[in-house]
Amino acid sequence: PKYGTVAHLGEDLKNLRRNFMHSCPPLPVPQPDHTILVEVESVKADQMPMPFQGRETDTWNRFHVKMPYSSHNSYEKYSSKGEKNKKEVPRWEIIRKALEKKKFKNAQNIEETIKSYNKKYKTQWDFSALQVFVEQQTQGEQQVLLEYLLPKMAELALQLPRLCPKPIPLLRQTMSHAITLSQQQIACLLANAFFCTFPHRNATEDKSEYANYPSINFSRLFEKKSERKLEKLKTVFCYFSQVTEDMPKGLVTFQRRQLLSPVNWENSTTKLSKLHVTSHGTIEKEGSGMLQVDFACAMVGGGVLSSGLIQEEIRFLINTELIVARLFTEKLNDEECLLITGAQQYSRYSGYGDTYRHEGVYRDDTPRDRWQRRCTEIVAIDALKFRNSKDQFKKNRLVRELNKAYCGFTRPEIPPQHTSAVATGNWGCGAFNGDYQFKALIQILAASEAGRDVAYFTFGNSQIMWQVYEMHSLLTKKNTTVGNLYSLLQKYCDEVWNNSYAKDIIDYIMKKKHKL
Ligand code: AR6
Repeated sequence: PKYGTVAHLGEDLKNLRRNFMHSCPPLPVPQPDHTILVEVESVKADQMPMPFQGRETDTWNRFHVKMPYSSHNSYEKYSSKGEKNKKEVPRWEIIRKALEKKKFKNAQNIEETIKSYNKKYKTQWDFSALQVFVEQQTQGEQQVLLEYLLPKMAELALQLPRLCPKPIPLLRQTMSHAITLSQQQIACLLANAFFCTFPHRNATEDKSEYANYPSINFSRLFEKKSERKLEKLKTVFCYFSQVTEDMPKGLVTFQRRQLLSPVNWENSTTKLSKLHVTSHGTIEKEGSGMLQVDFACAMVGGGVLSSGLIQEEIRFLINTELIVARLFTEKLNDEECLLITGAQQYSRYSGYGDTYRHEGVYRDDTPRDRWQRRCTEIVAIDALKFRNSKDQFKKNRLVRELNKAYCGFTRPEIPPQHTSAVATGNWGCGAFNGDYQFKALIQILAASEAGRDVAYFTFGNSQIMWQVYEMHSLLTKKNTTVGNLYSLLQKYCDEVWNNSYAKDIIDYIMKKKHKL
């Protein structure tokens, strides 16, 4: 009976820190661990940042994004006499001719255009979702899309050599490195992704060059018509129509981070931090200005360009600039995360999964920091996926999840009084089948050790709200330390595996409370 009447428990949300303090240092000169793709002096409020000019390099190697305009991106043209007479032509030339001053007649025409420089996939790629999308528009809408928006997107894509002349490093495994680029550069890269121009990024075989990277060309978004695909396409076009109309002038930073020194969980004497827990609201809305958790896939963005449409995919669709992370972020390792600062929200939505609906333009008025980035921090951390629920109660899994969350939350470089609270929720407990109570405690441990408070959004579930609150309030009443709670979780794991305990962790904590 107590469920349903209370909307939130624990600390007041207004007592948790949000980060609109413009506290970042002045934009640095490019550092070895930070690639800045714009001219630093040009970064000013309401001014379009200038792409970094520097010396022109035609980079084509394992360490950088292979750009579609590179002279190394050639296309083999076979003469009628066969292989012997094959001729290499620059692929960018073909792309340019296909997209330049182009007005599209219908969906088939878009398909033909994209396939004209992706001949290998002529029979494989299916554009049924895009086709249905176009056909469902009114005649007026179709005209705007085909004759106005798509040509503008094509024009934007072709600006790539001018807007992104500097090589973009790949954020490879075990690298601690950041990339800062302008929203304009991102829009241009995403327009290229839409038109599927990125070379070497279409193969899906295990041994292909980019097998350890998420996909970036949009081809799969266009295939297999479904209600989900229609709503995804609406969201994506909503982004492109805004940026082609009024290009945002800020920057976005993508930082790959790794846990450098292991945490001694067992011996930590850190006290648990404050908790606000609520069944109302969402991470992105009510958690604005906090460190917002992306319930990620190790391949960031998960199924955003295919069929997935849950927490991570929705976030990548509405904050569309996040999608560009897929261009350069190699699969995350166990002790790595990706932190994205400045991604703007472009769309409103309702529903979730099959009920997801695009609800129109979102006007993001989040203040910008000194680097002209929106004060929105999103951290991609991927939980483990459990087929058998019991598997998560193994000690090494517990440590893996703790370290992953801690890697996402800790900021040794920022004074503790400046770190915002963590806005999170049922991380790893949907598609990945984790245990709510156990995962909540893991996140509370990681956040406490990182010195951050927690705003926990249970996404409509009052039972979880009460359980998380009751565990946290009992533990804090007993002055439990991170080390104590960690040992308790370990013991619980042991007992689950010995089959000497079969109930939830909350019951276990209540049973052991006199020992805390
Ligand atoms: N705010 C707060 N809570 C939310 C929100 C939100 N906006 N959206 C969902 N939840 P899930 P996972 C709650 O399944 O298990 C993707 O494909 C809701 O209760 O997305 O970590 C990724 O790419 C939901 O059930 O996360 C990965 O491949 C729960 O959070 C995979 O899913 C978990 O959301 C990750 O799966």
